[in-house]
Amino acid sequence: MGFTPRVGSIPSSSTMFHINDVRSILRPLSADPRAPASAKAARARSAWTYQPGEGLPALIEALEEKLLRENRIRVRTGSRVMVTAGANMAFMHVILATLDPGDEVILPLPYCFNHEMAVTRASGRPVGVPTDDRYQLRPEALESAITPRTKAIVTITPNNPTGAVFTEEALRDVNEICRRHGIYHIADEVYEYFTYGGTRHFSPGSISGSNDYTQGRVSRRCQSQEPQGLNGKAPEPLR
Ligand SMILES: Cc1ncc(COP(=O)(O)O)c(C=O)c1O
Repeated sequence: MGFTPRVGSIPSSSTMFHINDVRSILRPLSADPRAPASAKAARARSAWTYQPGEGLPALIEALEEKLLRENRIRVRTGSRVMVTAGANMAFMHVILATLDPGDEVILPLPYCFNHEMAVTRASGRPVGVPTDDRYQLRPEALESAITPRTKAIVTITPNNPTGAVFTEEALRDVNEICRRHGIYHIADEVYEYFTYGGTRHFSPGSISGSNDYTQGRVSRRCQSQEPQGLNGKAPEPLR
């Protein structure tokens, strides 16, 4: 699946271009035993100057390892992992890379307001689709809401604001719908550790063959907190 033309219109960074130039001069210079202390110090300083925009390689490696161990997501060669300053920034990146003005994104109701804001800011249209009386996904209703302008379905599990944990079966259904219609499945998993009792979190990105159209976000480790559903009541665990 492709990106919006907005992505192709971004010029490459001239800052990074010059930084790479400077590094290529400094590297051999500072390795020379006759190099002045100032050249060596300048090289050491490069550790805290501009770094790869997608994140420090060691951090990306650690995240890939976490995705495989905890989420069973095998990131393909060439890594699609990118570090962002929070999940909102990750979502905004995904939306800006995916939507043209007027495109639609399906959000199961009730949804997290920041998703609606991101879609609207990218001149897209958020389309709310009600969940059932236990705040669970209704895959057939989500599919019915797809139009030629739909670019993605978003799932948040465990959910904000309801606290519901979506079943593996429903998430697989939604993922299959996205595959069939050639749209993205954006999986917000920032609360992945907020499951209780026998409830298990499932990552749609682990579905075999879904790499090309499933974008997951597991960007932060949440602090432990009491389970909180609507009206302050803990949501009933799913069986
Ligand atoms: C479901 C969900 N996704 C993303 C965010 C935003 O996360 P961050 O604070 O990492 O930008 C929130 C809000 O805190 C959220 O509830």
